[in-house]
Amino acid sequence: MRYSAVLVAAGRGERMGSDLPKQWRQIGGRPVARWALEGLLAGGCTEVVVVIGQDHEPLARAAFAGLSGWRLALGGATRSVSVKNGLAALNPDVEAILVHDAARPFVRSSHIAALIAALGEADGALPALPVPDTLKRADATGRATGAVARDGLFRAQTPQAFRTKALLDAYAEPSAEATDDAALVEARGGVVRLVPGDPLLNKLTYPEDFDLAEVMIAPHRRVRVGQGFDAHRFGPGEAVWLCGVKLDHDQSLIGHSDADVGLHALTDAVLGALSLGDIGDHFPPTDPQWKGAPSDLFLRHAARLARQSGAVITQVDVTLICEAPKIKPHRQAMRARLAEILGMDIDGVSVKATTTEGMGFTGRREGIAAQALATLEIPTLRIGARNHVQP
Ligand code: CTP
Ligand code: MG
Repeated sequence: MRYSAVLVAAGRGERMGSDLPKQWRQIGGRPVARWALEGLLAGGCTEVVVVIGQDHEPLARAAFAGLSGWRLALGGATRSVSVKNGLAALNPDVEAILVHDAARPFVRSSHIAALIAALGEADGALPALPVPDTLKRADATGRATGAVARDGLFRAQTPQAFRTKALLDAYAEPSAEATDDAALVEARGGVVRLVPGDPLLNKLTYPEDFDLAEVMIAPHRRVRVGQGFDAHRFGPGEAVWLCGVKLDHDQSLIGHSDADVGLHALTDAVLGALSLGDIGDHFPPTDPQWKGAPSDLFLRHAARLARQSGAVITQVDVTLICEAPKIKPHRQAMRARLAEILGMDIDGVSVKATTTEGMGFTGRREGIAAQALATLEIPTLRIGARNHVQP
């Protein structure tokens, strides 16, 4: 069965109360909406229309960098209007359509497969969980006024899957409005089936939901750490390159490329975390094309390899070892440059410096050395997501 999806991400997240709407905030090192989109693509959707709020296009493009198979549409004042706009932008030449909340990041291929299978004998299907707690009624002052029988009650989740015609007909009604797409199909007499829900599909609504979600995915990611070291000798010159920043100095570092020890050590750290050899394997010093090369190219390459393997670089830490030049005044510029090259938040980028108190080759001012650590997280929640990541 061919199916595509509408991913609604146009809400304001008022109950979350953060400046940045929840779907663009990070969880496990990647934006919430990106998790959801990757899950839908890995689950076999031929196309995903992501419905976003006014002015959120730059946020969305940054969040989805490197993924293909998605398009943007503009949302509306309510979720139903957003879904409607998404459906209008979708190619209807499919047998089924999924509708999914971007605020439910962890959709897995197995969830989608169960929904699509249920459409064999239904117009719609949704994941749902039984209600484990007693349901209470209370008045506005918080005084309990009775219990509600919970027999036959379920909590509806998304993605919800529908036969294309059933969903398009439901949304063709001018007044179509519900927090739940299945309700619109049911209201027209459509048969909607429940399939077993999953706590992983819970919606992020309140601030504490983020903490819980981090805990929930903790067993579903592998943390990898890599380390790197490099040293280059001083020679005649007027400047040194360190962590992608040019510093005036009375000498330069000598090397086949621009001899940026910071970038070289960090490139090796990222490659090390991925077990992908070292910088010399990827950029042989014997190859004339790397003569004088700006070393950000090497680090960009390592970051691209990390993305291709589905990894997120969560933290890097570089230590530059030299008596001179002084690093501290340039530390912020270096952090900003590394963050830009790696495409990560500056919070996760550390640059430090130390002397060796006059001892050894750095102490004798013969050259500069650098050490680096890189921490990567590899989500194991969805096999296949990487197929949608372009180089
Ligand atoms: N949504 C949407 N357009 C709207 C309202 C909601 O696309 N006008 C989306 C949200 O982005 C979210 C999903 O619908 O992915 C579920 O809605 P909800 O959890 O209520 O999110 P928000 O409306 O953003 O949050 P709140 O109600 O707390 O403001
Ligand atoms: Mg809402």
